[in-house]
Amino acid sequence: MIRIPFGTIAVTDRSKEIISEILDTKRLSTGKYVREFEKRFAALIGAEEAVAVSTGTDADALALAVLYDFGAVRGDEIIVPALSFVATGNAVLQAGFTPVFVDIDRKTLNIDVAKIEEAITKKTKAIMPVHLMGKPADMDSINRIAQQYGLYVIEDAAEAHGASYKGKNVGTLGDMAAYSLYVAHIITTIEGGIVVTNRTDFAEILRSLRSHGRACKCESCVLNTSSSYCPKRFSLGDKSDIRFIFERIGFSSKMNEIEAAVGIGALDVFNDVLKKRRENLYYLMDKFSRFEPYLTTIKKEPYEDIGPHALPIIIEEDSPFTRNQLVDFMEKNGIDTRSLFQSMPTQCPGFAFLKAKASGFPNAEYIGNNGLHVGVHQDLGLKECDYILDTIQIFLKKNT
Ligand SMILES: Cc1ncc(COP(=O)(O)O)c(C=O)c1O
Repeated sequence: MIRIPFGTIAVTDRSKEIISEILDTKRLSTGKYVREFEKRFAALIGAEEAVAVSTGTDADALALAVLYDFGAVRGDEIIVPALSFVATGNAVLQAGFTPVFVDIDRKTLNIDVAKIEEAITKKTKAIMPVHLMGKPADMDSINRIAQQYGLYVIEDAAEAHGASYKGKNVGTLGDMAAYSLYVAHIITTIEGGIVVTNRTDFAEILRSLRSHGRACKCESCVLNTSSSYCPKRFSLGDKSDIRFIFERIGFSSKMNEIEAAVGIGALDVFNDVLKKRRENLYYLMDKFSRFEPYLTTIKKEPYEDIGPHALPIIIEEDSPFTRNQLVDFMEKNGIDTRSLFQSMPTQCPGFAFLKAKASGFPNAEYIGNNGLHVGVHQDLGLKECDYILDTIQIFLKKNT
C-alpha cells in the first residue's frame, strides 16, 4: 500500500536561514520579510500591491471591509457561490455583510453566472466568485454583470495559486483578490493570507484594517523594523499619535516574520512546485474519463490553466455506491480524502439563521453529498497518481 497524504510543505534552506536570523535579531512581528514577501507575491501575480494578513479567511474579510470606505454599510449584501469552503461565507459575515448565495454550475463547481442577476438587490455591493479547486470562475460574465450594476468584484483565489484565464493571471481579474497561504496551498506561510490589488488606496486601507484600523498606512512600520523615530507619527497639527487614531473598525491580522520567511522559500520554489502539481493534476484528469459514467471530474478549457490545488471527484447519479463508501475504500488504501465542501446556506448549520430555502441550491447540495477531493502535491509522482487511479478502478470493479 502506498500512503498518499493530502498535502505537503517544503521549508527551504533559505527560509531556515531567515528564520534563524529573525530569531537572533528578535525582529519577529511584521517587518522587512513580510514586506519582501508581499512585493514578490504581487510581482508573481502581476498586481501593483499585496497586503499580507493572518489567514485566507481574513484576506477575504479585509478585502470586503475595504468597501466601507466606499459607501458600503453594515448589512449590505455580497453575492457568493453556495458551494465553497465555509470560510468564504464566514468571512462575509465576519466583515459585517450578509452573504447572498447563488447556486453553482455542476460542471465547473463555480458560481452559475446565469443566476447572479436575480440575486442582486439595492443592497448588493460586490460579487465574490470563488475559483474552486483552482478552476477559474467565468470572470468575463461576472465582470460584465458587475459593471452593469456598479458592483465590486473580489476574487476568492484561496485555491487558485498559479491559475490563469484568457491570458491573464487569476488574481488580476477583479478589484481585489484574496489568497489563502495555509499549509494546504501551493504558496504557504503555514497560516496566512494575502490580498492583491492594483489600487494603492485599497492597499493603504488594507494595511490600516489589518492593524486595528489605525491611521497608519506605511508599507512597513519603522517602529517594527528598526525602532527608529517615526517622522509621520506626530505629524498632525495637534501632534496626536497617529498609531492611536483608529479611522475604521479594524481587525488584528498581521503576518509575522517567521511566516513570511516560510513564504519567501515557497516563492523561490514556486515554478517547480507548480509544474509538478500541474503534471499530476492534468495526468489524473486526462485518465479520469475511464471512470464515466460513475465518476467525473472538472475539465480544462483551452483558454484557462487550472491552479493545481487538488483533484475533485464527483459521484454521478447512476452510481450504485455512495461517496462515503468510496471515501472509506480510498482511506483504507492509504489515500487521504477531503469532502468537496457543502452548500453553505443549506448544509452548514451555522448559516441556518439566514433562512435559505432547503434544496434551493440543488447543484451545491449535490456536490455536498457526492463530492470529494484528493491531493496532487509535489511529493507525488506518476507512480502515486497511477496508484490513485488503480485504487479507484478496483473499487469500481467491486461495486458496479
Ligand atoms: C475557497 C477558500 N476560501 C477561503 C479559505 C480560507 O483560508 P484559510 O484557511 O487560510 O483561512 C479557504 C481555505 O483553504 C478556501 O478554500
